[in-house]
Order: sequence, then C-alpha cells, then structure tokens
Amino acid sequence: MKHISVAIDGPAGAGKSTLAREMAKRFGFLYVDTGAIYRTVALHALRESIDPQDGGTLMAVLPELRVEITYGEDGLQHMLLNGEDVTEAIRSPEVSMSASAISAHPGVRVFLLETQRQLARDNDVVMDGRDIGTVVLPGADVKVFLTASAEERAWRRTLELDAKGMARPYQEVLDDLKQRDYNDANRSVAPLRQAEDAIALDTTHLTLSESIEALEQLITDRTGRSPLPREEDEEES
Ligand code: DC
Repeated sequence: MKHISVAIDGPAGAGKSTLAREMAKRFGFLYVDTGAIYRTVALHALRESIDPQDGGTLMAVLPELRVEITYGEDGLQHMLLNGEDVTEAIRSPEVSMSASAISAHPGVRVFLLETQRQLARDNDVVMDGRDIGTVVLPGADVKVFLTASAEERAWRRTLELDAKGMARPYQEVLDDLKQRDYNDANRSVAPLRQAEDAIALDTTHLTLSESIEALEQLITDRTGRSPLPREEDEEES
C-alpha cells in the first residue's frame, strides 16, 4: 500500500515541529524533523571547528559521518552522530545558526536527501522542514506552508526558551530568527519557498488549538484518513 506523506514547510519558529508532532500522533504517522538532521551535521562541524561557510572542508568530512535517526519507545525522534545520541546537544542557538549555514551547501543537501526519502517510502510520515514539499517529497499527499509574523515567532520562541530554563532576550531571538529567515530563503539550492500546490496557513492570530484543528481537517480532507480514536474518546465509549 502506498504510504501517506504530509509535508510541512515554513520559516524557523512557525510552530512546524509542535504541529507536525501533534498531527503524527493523531493520525498514527511517523514524525520526521528534518531540521534535526541538518543540526546533527552542524554539530559535527562546530565540534571540529570547521567554518560552516567552508563547503570544501565540509564535503571532505561528510563521508566519515554516520547520521542516523532512531525512534525511542516514547515514539520520539533521536539523532545519532557516529553512534552518539546528540538529540539534546543539537538544540543550542550556536547549532541553529550553524545548521542554517551548512544547509546552504548543495553537497550537504544531497548527502541527506536519500535518508529523508527512504523514511517516507517506508512509513506514513509527517515531515517538517524547508524544502519538503518542493524538493524532498514533491509528490506529498498534503503540503502545508506554515507561517507567522517574525515578531510572533520570536515571541513564541522566547517563551519556549524561558520555559526550558534557557532564557534569552526577545530582541536577540528576533535578530537571530530574521538572520535565519534570510539565509534559508536566499540560498541558491532548495531555498525556503512555498510549493505551488501547498496550502498556506498563517498562524499569527491563531491559538495552538485552532491551528491543530485546521491542520487535522486539512489532512482528513486530503488523505481520506481519520484521526485515530483518542484515549479520552475510548474511555467515553
Ligand atoms: O527546523 P530547524 O530550525 O531545526 O532547522 C535548522 C536549519 O536547518 C534551518 O535554519 C535550515 C536548515 N533546514 C533546511 O535547510 N532544510 C530542511 N528541510 C530543514 C532544515
């Protein structure tokens, strides 16, 4: 049976991972966070003091890299770098900025492409990233382009960092976010852009539950799949 694929693209901080994870849970699909794959390569570059702009040196180390995705018993995605679990380590602001830079190199993108496509061949997936609907899975059953204003995204990110005990000033978060938006949208290979057949969802003025409902409806309409019965529904029946 052909697997279903849902592509969710958009700029940093638009809520892609929160919404994609929730949709994967509701429909019983596998959630694939492709940004984490780029972050894993970026972490290696940082540790080896490789300038993320230096494509030549990066290309030379790629063959030594084993970047693997595993899923824990909790169903959460873990990233392995040469066998080491780096799931936490790839979340720092330095890695975010470095991932944005290394992902501009065509060789890095080609190196990671097949891993992403294979996951979608083997599973029903909700995949989030920047180029899923345009490059990785151009035939995806559902394509969503998720946006929100830069200010709203920076505000959400500031609150999230605060909650994790990694507080940063709003203005700094906003400046970083705008820099990454610029990098991601202006690189020559697979830049961030909305696929022609993607549906745009601007969440600036939506609550999280409104965004969740909108996406759930869209996936149901497009794929003919229904969300799995939820525990609370089962208890009621
Ligand atoms: O989604 P994220 O913020 O974790 O992604 C980190 C960086 O990786 C992002 O700035 C751009 C890059 N990226 C990409 O180029 N293509 C993807 N499909 C996912 C992420």
